[in-house]
Amino acid sequence: MKRYPFIAGNWKMNKTVGEALELVRGLKSSLQDMAEVEVAIAPPFTALFPVAQELKGSSIHLASQNLFWEEKGAFTGEISPVMLKEIHCRYVIIGHSERRQYFGETDATVNRRIKAALKFDLKVIFCIGETLEEREEGKTFTVLERQVEGGLKDLVEKEVKDMVVAYEPVWAIGTGKTATPEQAEEVHLSIRRKIERLYSREISEGIRIQYGGSVTPENIKGLMERENIDGALVGGASLKAETFSRIVRFKEM
Ligand code: 13P
Repeated sequence: MKRYPFIAGNWKMNKTVGEALELVRGLKSSLQDMAEVEVAIAPPFTALFPVAQELKGSSIHLASQNLFWEEKGAFTGEISPVMLKEIHCRYVIIGHSERRQYFGETDATVNRRIKAALKFDLKVIFCIGETLEEREEGKTFTVLERQVEGGLKDLVEKEVKDMVVAYEPVWAIGTGKTATPEQAEEVHLSIRRKIERLYSREISEGIRIQYGGSVTPENIKGLMERENIDGALVGGASLKAETFSRIVRFKEM
């Protein structure tokens, strides 16, 4: 089955509004004639609205790095799905390992956020991944199964159908240590099988699974050649128009 490739840039806590606009303008011009690959960028909250304005008429989609599950109210420091919808945010990254590691995110809170995003018709990029310690202890597949089950708890087929899963091994994030295409493919296949067991073959075959963790213009092609790797969630290399565009244009290499 052919799945449409999807490359997303997660800017994390980088870029002032001025810097964000400069980067978006660079991306718009270098990705102007881009077809056959879906592209999204996830700026920090302060830059979301100006970036949304700048993206009008462009095929690049806007993503948020997180969201809270309530619509509004006394939740200091949080952002609601309604606010993201208003500025035409299409995707939301949920369960990133940095949220799990530093901000107390658990499978249960990931599940609540996913449900809120779906309720407001935001598409989810659902992040999972094992730590180095878990990999070395041979727990990779158990950890991922637990994260998939917990994150997707109580969700039915039609809700998960358009979801994007991002496999981001924690040991590969920002370390320059990428999973080899073989390592990533093995895990992606196991995630697809897990989704098939939870739902159906039709669902699991349609879901796109991105790889994330030190993706660069140099290693993207090898990753994308694998059957079950449908895209990438890019951190560091998404902060420059030139490198991110080269990643998006992996087919031309
Ligand atoms: P790096 O590409 O900087 O390793 O970050 C990956 C990531 O966490 C994307 O969400």
